[in-house]
Amino acid sequence: MSSVRNGKEMFVVQGFGGKRKLSGRLAVSGAKNAALKAMAATLLFSDTVKLNNVPDIEDVKRMAELLSDLGGDVKKVGAHSYTINTKGISKTDLDHTLSKRMRSSIILTGPILARFGKVSFPHPGGCVLGSRPIDLFLSGFKEMGGRSVLRKGRYRVSARGKKLKGIEFFFRKVSVTGTETLMMSAVLAEGKTTLKNAALEPEIEHLAEFLNSCGAKIKGAGTSTIEITGGGMLRARKKVYTTLPDRIEAGSFLILGAIAARRLEITKCKPEHLEILTTLLKESGVPISIKKGSIVVRTPRVRPSAFDVRTHEYPGFSTDLQAPMVVYLTQAKGECSVFETIFEGRLNYTEDLVHMGAHITMANPHNIAVKGPSKLEGRTLEGPDLRAGLAFVIAGIVAEGQSIIDNVYHIDRGYERIEERLRSIGVNIKRVSR
Ligand code: EPZ
Repeated sequence: MSSVRNGKEMFVVQGFGGKRKLSGRLAVSGAKNAALKAMAATLLFSDTVKLNNVPDIEDVKRMAELLSDLGGDVKKVGAHSYTINTKGISKTDLDHTLSKRMRSSIILTGPILARFGKVSFPHPGGCVLGSRPIDLFLSGFKEMGGRSVLRKGRYRVSARGKKLKGIEFFFRKVSVTGTETLMMSAVLAEGKTTLKNAALEPEIEHLAEFLNSCGAKIKGAGTSTIEITGGGMLRARKKVYTTLPDRIEAGSFLILGAIAARRLEITKCKPEHLEILTTLLKESGVPISIKKGSIVVRTPRVRPSAFDVRTHEYPGFSTDLQAPMVVYLTQAKGECSVFETIFEGRLNYTEDLVHMGAHITMANPHNIAVKGPSKLEGRTLEGPDLRAGLAFVIAGIVAEGQSIIDNVYHIDRGYERIEERLRSIGVNIKRVSR
């Protein structure tokens, strides 16, 4: 069962009052949103799968607990490595408490349903970003032959004849985990599945490549049409899955560097996954050099200018980078608007930035106007989700005086030992227990 300790911890950050004091190198961890899907995908395998470069974060621990609770043999075999064997699983009910802790528990449902012909789960929990419906999953399952009922707060889905069938499915809304879940389900379904208007995130293509190397037949992942020919269980035969670098972490470090560093090198990343961000920052006036596997950001000659941001599915501007970007925009010169198109609750944190001194006005839950530059003052803050949590840390670094960021659990969900890594480039940050 869950062994969460860090709900009562906080970060204390001494800000530099807008001075550029940071320098050095930050290496990017494996991507949370790739590792979690790869862990779920082990349900499609009849043998042991080894996963490398897995970030040591709370969401990964919860996913490991969910798989263990189902009866999987999950072993942490190194600081960033797991072996997972799901052969012994017979349970098909997702644990209530763990599923409520994490939205991505939903990605287990497809592989379980496809393999065992049934699955039961509660409405998944996770970050407070808005309503977060699961209708696309349920309608995908239904078309594949999985009938679902909602009884006593649990969805119970069962496949006719215990087997899902291949379908043509059009996503009326682009969904990352929806695409991944139906893609994984289709690997064990009967016949061919075509997913249209699929999400394009690089983590999806990366997962498909690994599954294909182990016997799956997936074509077109990384494009908007994915074709999957169903078959039997996959075999890893000692092939190792290596998690790709976290583009959101890399992007957040880049934004931090753009506001507060003299020179910061972000290593072990894939700059090709961050093109929208590097393009915007360069146009804004931030000197950025892109190398193979790393990005260097330096002090701009003059204060960078503001630009409008509209979040979009990949390769557009990621909603997961919206909060750190708003902090950046409070320090840039000029007025701009930020339009959050993906989630309706994902601008609420800006109220706390206003308390710090930022000039932000909310036109509606999807749209804010930011006027910069503004002087931020240290405050006590509590991030509603992991991305806003890290954005508050960045705001605390830029601010004058001390900031306290409460509920560190949210940040630990997605970022490994963040305070130690930030200290290595000069950030004055401490983890303190209440
Ligand atoms: C994934 O969430 C990521 N999570 C999120 O990362 C990320 O913010 C999001 O994609 C968008 O890029 C993981 O990969 C684990 P969606 P997901 O389904 O898949 C609506 C982070 O901080 N929708 O692509 O849950 C939905 O409400 C996070 O790491 C439906 O209407 O997002 C949203 O408006 C949080 N019905 C839109 O689609 C559904 O059944 C896109 O959401 C499913 C989604």
